[in-house]
Amino acid sequence: MSRDLRNQVFPCHLGIIMDGNGRWAQQRGLPRIAGHQEGVQTVKRTVEDCAEIGVKILTLYAFSTENWRRPKMEVDFLMRLAEEYIMRELPDLQRNGVRLQLMGRREKLPSSLLGVLDNVALQTKENSRLILNLAFNYGGRAEIVDAMKAIIMDQRKGNLVVSEIDENIFSHYLYCSNVPDVDLIVRTGGEWRLSNFLLWRAANAVFWSMPVLWPDFRKEHLQEAIGIYAKQIRNYNDGA
Ligand code: IPE
Ligand code: IPE
Ligand code: MG
Repeated sequence: MSRDLRNQVFPCHLGIIMDGNGRWAQQRGLPRIAGHQEGVQTVKRTVEDCAEIGVKILTLYAFSTENWRRPKMEVDFLMRLAEEYIMRELPDLQRNGVRLQLMGRREKLPSSLLGVLDNVALQTKENSRLILNLAFNYGGRAEIVDAMKAIIMDQRKGNLVVSEIDENIFSHYLYCSNVPDVDLIVRTGGEWRLSNFLLWRAANAVFWSMPVLWPDFRKEHLQEAIGIYAKQIRNYNDGA
């Protein structure tokens, strides 16, 4: 952890592993998809809260490369839900100065979802208050493998010399090369797992898991996690 990266007690880039939708629904005797539907409301609130409190980059883990193993009906529902959310949110994203971009593999995603994503990404690309990365069909290992493939292609084309590859150059080949390392990763639902999230960019991140289920996540939980982050950074700065 280099000191210069750690002098900010407020996280510039926040990543959230939005977990617990299924349990939220089960606790109410509802099908799991009802939890996902409720979770979308939390996404909407959290994007607005982050823009308001000054987070500059928000990465939301919405669908992992492992999530394809879920029942087809749930996967199909999540694809449709993402498409509907993005389509519906465009005016609010514009109003709040939010730039949306996909962070993930395009392969296997429905073309209608990609169309909506590309359109909203294009229309919001000048917004600079908050960058919202939708980690959808995202896997940290897939991202590193895809970066490696792109590096090999560039090397073959003569655009890159192997001996010059370093961590900085490598990071430009990750998804969304405009996105810096993540400062704080919050996981809801109480599990202490990374689940293949942001592996490369998480090298120096603070990780915090909270028992609250994603549909119940509120601004106070966001503030609590940011407080934990500030404490971790102060401890580090005092001790280093
Ligand atoms: C997280 O909630 C949302 C996605 C992975 C899409 P889950 O669906 O994993 O909910 P739990 O963990 O089963 O409660
Ligand atoms: C993590 O939740 C992935 C997302 C939030 C998209 P999961 O419920 O899929 O992860 P595991 O199965 O607990 O690792
Ligand atoms: Mg889960």
